Amino acid sequence: MATNKIDTTLVSAGRSKRYTQGAVNSVIQRASSLVFDTVADKKRATAGRASGELFYGRRGTLTHFALQDAMTELEGGAGCALYSCGAAAVANAILAFVAAGDHILVSGAVYEPTQDFCTKILSKMNVATTFFDHQIGAEIAALIQPNTRVVFLESPASITMEVQDIPAIVAAVRAKAPDAVIMIDNTWAAGVLFDALGHDIDISIQAATKYIIGHSDGMIGTAVANARCWPQLRENSYLMGQMVDADTAYMASRGLRTLSTRLRQHEESALQVAEWLATQPEVARVNHPALPQSPGHAYWKRDFRGSSGLFSFILHEKLGREQLAHYLDGFEHFSMAYSWGGYESLILANQPEELAAIRPAGGVDFSGTLVRLHIGLEHVDDLLMDLKAGFARLRS
Ligand SMILES: Cc1ncc(COP(=O)(O)O)c(C=O)c1O
Repeated sequence: MATNKIDTTLVSAGRSKRYTQGAVNSVIQRASSLVFDTVADKKRATAGRASGELFYGRRGTLTHFALQDAMTELEGGAGCALYSCGAAAVANAILAFVAAGDHILVSGAVYEPTQDFCTKILSKMNVATTFFDHQIGAEIAALIQPNTRVVFLESPASITMEVQDIPAIVAAVRAKAPDAVIMIDNTWAAGVLFDALGHDIDISIQAATKYIIGHSDGMIGTAVANARCWPQLRENSYLMGQMVDADTAYMASRGLRTLSTRLRQHEESALQVAEWLATQPEVARVNHPALPQSPGHAYWKRDFRGSSGLFSFILHEKLGREQLAHYLDGFEHFSMAYSWGGYESLILANQPEELAAIRPAGGVDFSGTLVRLHIGLEHVDDLLMDLKAGFARLRS
């Protein structure tokens, strides 16, 4: 789990007097136009438009600057670009660094819309994608081409939760393609459980929609970049018209203040549930990075500060359509939803062939139904009771 230092950063970052105007939280400054009284004021704003001067709404207001400063400090970068959602952050971070004729390397177990962006959008721009086996290490060097510009990681993997050997991948890429930009979808770790930039990754992307907003009531994406990549990310994202409204930026800043505390509870309850699931006869494997049976556990132990509330488990059996509906429809505390990271518990199921179809490299190593859980902030006893009743439904 996060260190005390991160707890303190989460409370204090982005709360300078300029942003709070004497309140505890930043002001909500809604603006398209920022108005200038003098030619000199306008000139100063224009000159400083990329470095915190109020210039034009699309460059951000005090509310955005507060969040950007906080994220930059939290993730140890040179700057943070804001987007209307996590998918926009992923797409625009990649777009900022590719041109026609380029090649990118993307883990074959990333969030499905990230894959679709590569195959459906980048391909139209003559940017080629090679999906690699998520569990690759230094062997990634063999996949690097002279035109490889971006290497995109996500750890743990979406849904199947394997943790990657990031130091081995990063070292191999740096040795063979020093100019390539390495980015990671760091959403599971909420930017605090895994220090992406500290592992020499250039850009840490988050669907801040999840843990940072934390209440399932807003969508926002963040991308924190190191000094080498920040100017290009910032200017390209600006030219692509990427920004988020001030109210949502405010909600994200507010979410940061309780992030550590929420994450600690998500972690504790999720571990309890995962460990219990691992003892159930219906369960073939629990994919929780903190459990030794989970693929990549040793990397998680070495590289991460803790775990969050999202994990999955695989049943021995592949459930039929009706059986699955009977199982999923009967939960009291788990709702079905595609997002996660809020205070509420969620459940989703995937069949092995559905997952194999979105694992273009590596496939899947199981034959039963996979169930993904997000463990929320309800009392864990209620969640365990609900899950027990679920297994009873399967037996009935
Ligand atoms: C790992 C991951 N990255 C990115 C996204 C996209 O975020 P958003 O829904 O804010 O576009 C999601 C959404 O589920 C996700 O799970």
